[in-house]
Amino acid sequence: MERFGFILHPLDVRKDVAKRFAVLSILPLRWIDLLSGYFPPVYLSHVTGIRSALGDEAEGWLVACPLTPAAMMRFPLHRVYRQIIRAGQLAERLGARIVGLGALTSSVGDAGETVARELHVPVTTGNSYTVAVACGAVQAIASDQGKPLGELHVAVLGGTGSIGSACARLLCRWVGHVSIVGRDAGAVWRLVDSLQASAPATVSGTTDLMALRDADLVISATNSAGPLIRPEHLRPGTAVYDLALPPDVSAAVRELGLAVQVYSGGYVVVPGNPDFGFDFGLPPGHTYACMAETIALALEGRYENFTLGRTITPEQVLKISIIAERHGFRAAPLRGRGGALLKVPSCVGMV
Ligand SMILES: NC(=O)c1ccc[n+]([C@@H]2O[C@H](COP(=O)([O-])OP(=O)(O)OC[C@H]3O[C@@H](n4cnc5c(N)ncnc54)[C@H](OP(=O)(O)O)[C@@H]3O)[C@@H](O)[C@H]2O)c1
Repeated sequence: MERFGFILHPLDVRKDVAKRFAVLSILPLRWIDLLSGYFPPVYLSHVTGIRSALGDEAEGWLVACPLTPAAMMRFPLHRVYRQIIRAGQLAERLGARIVGLGALTSSVGDAGETVARELHVPVTTGNSYTVAVACGAVQAIASDQGKPLGELHVAVLGGTGSIGSACARLLCRWVGHVSIVGRDAGAVWRLVDSLQASAPATVSGTTDLMALRDADLVISATNSAGPLIRPEHLRPGTAVYDLALPPDVSAAVRELGLAVQVYSGGYVVVPGNPDFGFDFGLPPGHTYACMAETIALALEGRYENFTLGRTITPEQVLKISIIAERHGFRAAPLRGRGGALLKVPSCVGMV
């Protein structure tokens, strides 16, 4: 039996805190943010029933780092690291032989490197498989929107980040135009220059979210603590693939209904009959791509630091895709136009 641990944290703060601490959830949000810096890690569940297509089995433990998204972004880095490391140590004590970093625990600071140095078991952010799943989704969305891939204009919001920049680098090989949308102009232009040097696609960059209006498809992958994409940033007919945790797309955009198609992404179907023992609000057997990477590495017996830091290579994306698919993981179908379920193809043939 292979063993993994995975660290989550509250995303929808009131709802998630209420799942374990109903009394705390009624406090003002800024109090919950503050207190989350002092709470110990929380045991969430024992994950059972994972059985790979090759017959390998895995069990795991879900552990919560209590920090809220706002606390994660605002607290001094050493306090944030301390809270994530304590959660990782709890997973180690429970028996994990590799620990995955969920949502913003993989984005803060040096993206897992400090946490990996402090734990006795290897660590992965899960971002390589998340990139693979997102690139497969672009193919599915292009066909749902009736646009040839080679003519698609894709804007990547959070494009200078770990997942955003790796998606942009791969998409430059297949789509017509890639826009990098970030908030640090220097970082945006450095990335644009490096992509232009090697990519057949047109590459542009900006710090202005209004540029999202020019795109056919927006991939959203920021580490913002709250939603960023509002209705005025999009034109009717734009598609948005939002993989950020917490989501980047505001409720007001979703209320636009058919005018803008929002695809919630970054989800994977896990092989076997998994019981996560915890409700993420996903259909049975579904989880986040970052957790799927952690489980796939455990099933493969690859107890090593796999994705750490902010640079993800195409080779890492290919390697984890091959491992995950061999064990029977599949990108979860997307809810497309008219509510139809879209199969998300593998990106293996394209990387
Ligand atoms: N669905 C899944 O399975 C899954 C898996 C892994 C991660 N995620 C989520 O994916 C997201 C990205 O993760 P990551 O590891 O790639 O994070 P990251 O490396 O920290 O990158 C985030 C990027 O977003 C940018 N950003 C933040 N606020 C912005 C704004 N207002 N406008 C434009 N850009 C902004 C940041 O810019 P600066 O560099 O200027 O700060 C950074 O470049 C996170 O929400 C994470 O929780 C989801």
